[in-house]
Amino acid sequence: MAMLNVRRDFPILTKVHNGHQIVYFDNAATTQKPYQVIHAIVDLLENHNGNPHRGAHVLSIEAGELYDEAREAVRRFINAKSTQEIVFVRNTTEALNLISRSYGETHLHKGDKIVIPISEHHSNLVTWQRVCQKTGAELDYMYLDAEGHITEADLAKIDDRTKIVSFAAVSNVYGMKRPVKEIVARAHAVGAVAIVDGAQSVPHMKTDVQDIDCDFFVFSGHKMCGSASTGVLYGKKAILEDMEPFLLGGDMIEYVQEQSTTFNELPFKFEAGSQNVEGAVALHAAIDYLEDLGMDAIEEHEHELTTRCLEGMKKIPHIHIIGSTDPAEKTGVITFTIDGVHPHDAATILDSFGIAIRSGHHCAQPLGCHLGVEASNRASFYIYNTLDEVDYFLEKLPLVRKQMGFKD
Ligand code: ALA
Repeated sequence: MAMLNVRRDFPILTKVHNGHQIVYFDNAATTQKPYQVIHAIVDLLENHNGNPHRGAHVLSIEAGELYDEAREAVRRFINAKSTQEIVFVRNTTEALNLISRSYGETHLHKGDKIVIPISEHHSNLVTWQRVCQKTGAELDYMYLDAEGHITEADLAKIDDRTKIVSFAAVSNVYGMKRPVKEIVARAHAVGAVAIVDGAQSVPHMKTDVQDIDCDFFVFSGHKMCGSASTGVLYGKKAILEDMEPFLLGGDMIEYVQEQSTTFNELPFKFEAGSQNVEGAVALHAAIDYLEDLGMDAIEEHEHELTTRCLEGMKKIPHIHIIGSTDPAEKTGVITFTIDGVHPHDAATILDSFGIAIRSGHHCAQPLGCHLGVEASNRASFYIYNTLDEVDYFLEKLPLVRKQMGFKD
């Protein structure tokens, strides 16, 4: 299948740790980078490095062209109407901070409501706490059912007082795909703005922001083979135009006088200061790479890995999977606990076999508190993972309790 030859593009996958070739199952935290992305960064730095939009010399112009081409690649990848709707930021967290500061704090008032699922990442939760503290608005949670689904009672929380509905298209803990279009439609039905956190969805499936019809959509480059500190804020043009700038400084201005300033046009109004051109170029290369593989093929490949892994894990005693175990509802994210074993111990033991998974609260402490699960383990897959790796993981997983001294 399409993913067969992918591994040879990722130099890090040949790394040996404790005598085992590394099995990288921490892709929801960050993904590895193919040569195509690494070479694009090196090519920029070796041949085209300059500060975009600031110079009349060849290097500034070439860097500017590459930066602009990257923005067009992002527009195409998520099917935005215009590159004016694509703002480069550092990551999903910064995008959500931008929206909360430049939209939330200026548009919400006492009595208004913000509705989010309890499973949200801290970046899509702490941000709204502050908006509420500053405006007097109220943060209301969808508490989900026992398997992590958004219920009709949850959706009913989106009422006439609701001004913002913000949610992850795929939860970074449950790995479950949310009914994105339905939630956006419910938000719009009461006149609320709909914000979609695509950090865990964009790398794994096709994204079409016009079809979703969300007002904002945010994601990170490093979770989709791009480099660190590269993220994207998509916003509908009319809304972005109506918003105050987030950061102030160079390039985001039109005219600066002693006592006042007018601002640059979109998207530059939101891109103050010198930009991460390497990151944009890397994201462009990553998009080209993923598009060559095909987003549908990527989704199908991860579905195969997830199905095999869930089936195997269900047969291992003392393993508890958090949320739905139906692979049709999930991407390649499986969060679990092991009876009697602290997640950090489990991750350390698996690391001794060369298997990299995440342990901790996954930046979702309110969910952990709600479920009574302070910390857990998470295995997450990407394009270069194989069924053999899943089988190796399933073989080693029962050894975790054995190494901790349990008899069964
Ligand atoms: N947000 C990243 C995760 O869920 C870091 O692991």
